[in-house]
Amino acid sequence: MAVRTICVYPDAALRRETEDVTVFDDELKALAADMFDTMYESEGIGLAAPQIGVSKKIVVIDYRGDKNVLVNPVITAEEGSVTREEGCLSFPGIYEKVESPEKISVEYFDENGEKHVRELDGFTACVFHHEIDHLNGRLLIDRVSPLKRAFLKKKMTKRAGGR
Ligand code: CO
Repeated sequence: MAVRTICVYPDAALRRETEDVTVFDDELKALAADMFDTMYESEGIGLAAPQIGVSKKIVVIDYRGDKNVLVNPVITAEEGSVTREEGCLSFPGIYEKVESPEKISVEYFDENGEKHVRELDGFTACVFHHEIDHLNGRLLIDRVSPLKRAFLKKKMTKRAGGR
């Protein structure tokens, strides 16, 4: 097990297309274990594979002891809308109020290849939604107002040493 480096925006890895996982082997379990280590190290509650530069549909979440590995997750239904403050390990120190569905239905496989179908609400729905967004290259910055987006883009690019 190892702590990996987290890709910080505007790292191109965050926008890369992700592939479905087709083999549920020890390599997948080891990757998930690394993702948990990396997430705990940064005191996060969710981490998606693109955030460590791996373009695969894998997410780890540990929110209030509800520990999950999500492989090839899909949101099959969304209902309602709530505004919550969200953070992201790829945007260190930044917290923004954004809208997310109040309830979601989600289907995924765990690291053993077992299928799960769940209906979620509250902050748990928010966390799952945020992480699954990562697998589609959709980031926190895409969900704020155009003005805020321009501000954050500038701030993050500057921080990364760009202009
Ligand atoms: Co995130």
